[in-house]
Amino acid sequence: MDTKIIKIDRKNISEKDMEMASHIIKNGGIVAFPTETVYGLGANGLDENAVKKIFEAKGRPGDNPLILHVASIDDIIPLVKEIPEIAKVLMYRFWPGPLTILFKRSELVPDIVTAGLDTVAIRMPKNEIAIRLIEKSNTPIAAPSANLSGRPSPTSSVHVIDDMKEKIDMIIDGGATGVGLESTVLDLSGDLPMILRPGGVTIEDLRVLIPHVALDPSIMDTRGHIVPKSPGQKYKHYAPKAEMIIFTGEIDKVVSEINSRKREYIDSGKIVGIMCTDETRDLYKDGLTISLGSRSEEDDIARNLFHALRTFDEKDVDVILAEGIASSNLGSAIMNRMIKAASGRIIAL
Ligand code: TXA
Ligand code: MG
Repeated sequence: MDTKIIKIDRKNISEKDMEMASHIIKNGGIVAFPTETVYGLGANGLDENAVKKIFEAKGRPGDNPLILHVASIDDIIPLVKEIPEIAKVLMYRFWPGPLTILFKRSELVPDIVTAGLDTVAIRMPKNEIAIRLIEKSNTPIAAPSANLSGRPSPTSSVHVIDDMKEKIDMIIDGGATGVGLESTVLDLSGDLPMILRPGGVTIEDLRVLIPHVALDPSIMDTRGHIVPKSPGQKYKHYAPKAEMIIFTGEIDKVVSEINSRKREYIDSGKIVGIMCTDETRDLYKDGLTISLGSRSEEDDIARNLFHALRTFDEKDVDVILAEGIASSNLGSAIMNRMIKAASGRIIAL
């Protein structure tokens, strides 16, 4: 399939380009588009055949449900059975933005979107191009992250092109995404509101409005013993080709352990990547060193993580030795992705 790639400036959106993109969605095709979190792979969320193409393009298992993207709070009305009071409060506070909420689904939502579950995940993205695309297509847009299943989510159009060229109808290049990690997935159906996937809206942000919000215990489970409530969380994810190991603890100890392991790996002929921070970058002498940013700027670390993982792949690194990040605020979403990328290999010093 010939994939059309168009560049759109989100501050000056071309109506003609949006017309072309929405035409594809309306006719059951697939368009990759930017959101504030990561790029999404979008199709008409009410068209079963269109949604099927998303699963094919990604190689995504059929039991992993998709998020529906809407352009306004009112757009959710036909998609859900009921809107809990607390959901209203959260939507007014955090939408548009990186918070996905699970609702009891209506009959309108096709089974393929929810993987047969009785809930549907919905969010309103904070990106002008995404919003215009949904409005002009006049339908909710089902969109997972626009990566091949198992790879790091795309934070630039280059990543989408690497994974999806020739597989989908169109890629909208709208520049780099802002947050760089996916949205927070929140389940309000149980006794306690539960975060099924940490993301752009932090648990600390949510606690201001829902003090009793909990994290699904599987999220920081490094051994994979606890079954996650969200189907997507059980899959191998964000996985670079290299073996990745995370080191946590006092930073001096982390640096010296990474340096000594690095020596051993290099001596045995392996290519070593080091994922570190600005504060420590100069303490690593050889190996391919990538800093994610300053430890005091979690936003930067979040934004740079997936690109760093892809860069290590391009450089054919065999082993990635990574510094752990403190698990508060955005840090828990960052560490959740890192733990998955490392398949749970984490060493506490
Ligand atoms: O930021 C984001 O959320 C991006 C952008 C494109 O919006 N999308 C994204 O979609 O990350 P995806 O499909 O890569 O991840 C959606 C996650 C999966 O882990 C999936 O299992 C979970 O949300 N999910 C979707 N519907 C669900 C449901 N009804 N119940 C439980 N988990 C659900
Ligand atoms: Mg994904």
